Amino acid sequence: MTVEAMPSPVRLKAVAAKGQPDPSPALEQLYRGFESELLVPLWTEIGDLMPQNPRSKAMPHLWRWDRLVELASEAGRIVPVGRGGERRAIALANPGLGGRPFATPTLWAAIQYLMPDENAPEHRHTQHAFRFVVEGEGVWTVVNGDPVRMSRGDFLPQAGWNWHAHHNAASAPMAWIDGLDIPFSYYTESQFFEFGRERIGTVEMTTPEYSRSERLWGHPGLRPLSQPDAPSATPLLAYRWVDTDRALADQLALEEEGHAATLSPGHAAVRFTNPSNGRDVLPTIRTEMHRIKRGASTLTQREVGSSVYQVFDGTGSVTVGDKQWAVQRGDMFVVPSWAPFGVKASDASNLDLFRFGDAPIFEALHAYRVQTDR
Ligand SMILES: [Fe+2]
Repeated sequence: MTVEAMPSPVRLKAVAAKGQPDPSPALEQLYRGFESELLVPLWTEIGDLMPQNPRSKAMPHLWRWDRLVELASEAGRIVPVGRGGERRAIALANPGLGGRPFATPTLWAAIQYLMPDENAPEHRHTQHAFRFVVEGEGVWTVVNGDPVRMSRGDFLPQAGWNWHAHHNAASAPMAWIDGLDIPFSYYTESQFFEFGRERIGTVEMTTPEYSRSERLWGHPGLRPLSQPDAPSATPLLAYRWVDTDRALADQLALEEEGHAATLSPGHAAVRFTNPSNGRDVLPTIRTEMHRIKRGASTLTQREVGSSVYQVFDGTGSVTVGDKQWAVQRGDMFVVPSWAPFGVKASDASNLDLFRFGDAPIFEALHAYRVQTDR
């Protein structure tokens, strides 16, 4: 098809409205000229393009873990995993984003499922990624030849362009969540991808308790002097639940003892950080774990940028914009940019929430804002 034959995708309509020129045959004629020359005036678009504050196309939405696992398990039964499809990963599709596999405008969130003895082939891509395990164990993820155990509560970041594969050494299937900056890379057209080996070596199929990265970098406050560089993404490939849990429990205990330790009363929170520089683990993704004490509430907050949460444990109620849900273990939900967000833990249990968001992108661009209601 030649360019001349292609119908113009620009559609303009003269409407009688505040801030708009009065409709007239001459205006319609002008708009037909704009359409044919592929031009759009600011005055018809300014409300959408330049609102007074972010108006996300993404919608607040909740996915129930039991349904995610049920459908992933069925995929495990009938969909093989291998070269080409690469991963049995099933992404959350935000209802406001046109059916694309995007949880938010910048973030991919998927449940990945691996059957016993299955291997997901090696590859690498420029998209930054992590895994978070809400239940199960038995899968090892192999990053640049370093096998990393995956168990409940573990957070496993993996910066872009590192080779990685997975293998399930257990006798049961395992599910976990993957988070990546796939939509951000997609919209900014910055992706690269390469296939790796068809099968990883037998040494990499071993299942050590701790990865080499943890033995080198995983000791609190201790930096190996052999590693003077500060890579932009974390060199530590696993953050173990035992450490995260202790950090959160200690914050709440300190608060009870009368010391300043929590974000707000009953709200403990930690951020996963790059041990080489103290910054976010990945250049585009911020990850945190929050614990809201039983019966306590968080402050209501709006932030530039979007987040995805997964309930790690406990029950409570979550309010995002005009939506409210009762949540339990494994449930996942989206907080769009600038949507007011607050959480209340039930009276029965603490509520633990894993969070990932795109704040590092906006901080790097000096476009980050946050507003907290006190
Ligand atoms: Fe991957």
